[in-house]
Amino acid sequence: MNFKSYIFIGIISFNISFAENKLDILSYNIHGFKTKKIAKKVDEIITHSLGWDITDFGLGDFKKTGICIFTIRNGSPENLKLGKGKLYAEKVFFLYKNQEVPLHYHWIKVEDVINRAGGAVGVQLYNSTKDDGLDSTIISASIDGEKIDIEAGKEFFLKSGESITLMPGVYHRFWCPDENVLVGEVSLVNDDRNDNKFYEPVGRFPKIDEDEEPIHLLCNEYLNFIDG
Ligand SMILES: [Fe+2]
Repeated sequence: MNFKSYIFIGIISFNISFAENKLDILSYNIHGFKTKKIAKKVDEIITHSLGWDITDFGLGDFKKTGICIFTIRNGSPENLKLGKGKLYAEKVFFLYKNQEVPLHYHWIKVEDVINRAGGAVGVQLYNSTKDDGLDSTIISASIDGEKIDIEAGKEFFLKSGESITLMPGVYHRFWCPDENVLVGEVSLVNDDRNDNKFYEPVGRFPKIDEDEEPIHLLCNEYLNFIDG
């Protein structure tokens, strides 16, 4: 199956999961913004990378390593530099059973990951070393607002309703061990182009063979579809 099919199926699965949990489907009005004049009206969606973000991390095995994200709000790196404006981001993501998000950390972003509905979320953490390796030291984390020491590399699970705060420099890996899960993320501004360090080299966005007109655009594709 090519990645475009996974985008289509991923969005349907995500929306079914929303409906099953009696949540309203998320969307942004990006249809018909192809001219620069109309695109200006939806500049926030385009420049803050709101909307669909579905990726296999460039590894070509989406069901094993991948994620369907919908970015609801996001500020910009400019906001962070200025220390004002939108300094926050909110996302919802969907993981299929046995799917995982590979080990990575952020230099700047603090993120709270909240299991919203469905199965458990598997979590594994490591402090990063100065040369981006995995440290064996204890990680000081906060689960549901309670400070807790976690052994490096120890696998643990967040049940529906549970949450964890992840500080910059802490490597984290997520996976879905039993049934599909909806996860919320609230964080500082999300800058996927400059603020992700993956332990194993991966691509943050998928490689897509544009062999036909897309039905859904991903947040990293908007600028490619504006015609003058
Ligand atoms: Fe992260």
